[in-house]
Amino acid sequence: MSPIIDVDAFARFEAAGWSQAHDGYHRFFGPITARAAEPLLDAARVRAGTTVLDVATGPGYLAASAAARGASVVGTDISAEILTLARRLHPGITFRLADAHRLDFADASFDAVVAGFLLPHLGDHHAAAAELVRVLEPGGRLALSTWDAPERVAVLGAVVAAVGEAGAQPPPDLPPGPPFFAFSDDTELTALLNGAGLTDVAVTTQAFTHRVVSADAWWDGVIGGTVRTAALVNGQTAPMRRRIRAAFDRIASHYQTDQGLDLPFSVKLASGRRR
Ligand SMILES: C[S@@+](CC[C@H](N)C(=O)[O-])C[C@H]1O[C@@H](n2cnc3c(N)ncnc32)[C@H](O)[C@@H]1O
Repeated sequence: MSPIIDVDAFARFEAAGWSQAHDGYHRFFGPITARAAEPLLDAARVRAGTTVLDVATGPGYLAASAAARGASVVGTDISAEILTLARRLHPGITFRLADAHRLDFADASFDAVVAGFLLPHLGDHHAAAAELVRVLEPGGRLALSTWDAPERVAVLGAVVAAVGEAGAQPPPDLPPGPPFFAFSDDTELTALLNGAGLTDVAVTTQAFTHRVVSADAWWDGVIGGTVRTAALVNGQTAPMRRRIRAAFDRIASHYQTDQGLDLPFSVKLASGRRR
């Protein structure tokens, strides 16, 4: 039986986690997720003069790329601390605190809405998708990115596999949330956007390789730059953490090259148009 999800408790857990993980995320994941920014903005047809809402902006990669195209952009996020980082990195852009489940904007306020890697962090995908569509003009476009299945996203997949190999269970204080990779599946992702009332829904896959210097840098990057994955590992006993790390090191060694570790990435990009 699936656990009951308290959407507000899960959002509080995410906000608290990102208040710690923002710098680590920016340093380690920023160069990775920023690679999805231009294809996502293309999918949302963002150009000079487009009004854009970037939901779960994090350090503001999508917002900054949209502004560089001449769009008029607002970035929102649930974490005040990550918004402080975004404002420091992009002083010319407006950033506002907002939970994606209830956006503080009038209906039909934006020509385009984008959200990079928001889906794995939501307690209620259907409520949030409805909100993203509500603030979109009729005819406007929504574009979302999310991680592909863990076996095609080594950076997270190796940690997930190591946790499984070690036999670790989620710690009791981890609030139940939907599966992290729920929308790695094209059919589920398409259904989410269609269900939110979008038409012309398309899902594409962006695959690339990213080099990390060492298994230590990889481990520290994930533990210092994620929320749920870090909590899953940090909430274990010390012996269990050592077992997870040993399993991770074994898995990570498969990616070793002469220059570092070459990690395969795969990202799902989904878009659709409001009727
Ligand atoms: C993986 S980061 C993505 C950041 C950025 N969009 C990118 O592409 O790199 C996830 C972001 O979602 C934000 N977030 C988590 N739950 C949220 C919610 N309910 N509403 C809005 N933002 C949320 C986090 O604070 C974090 O900045």
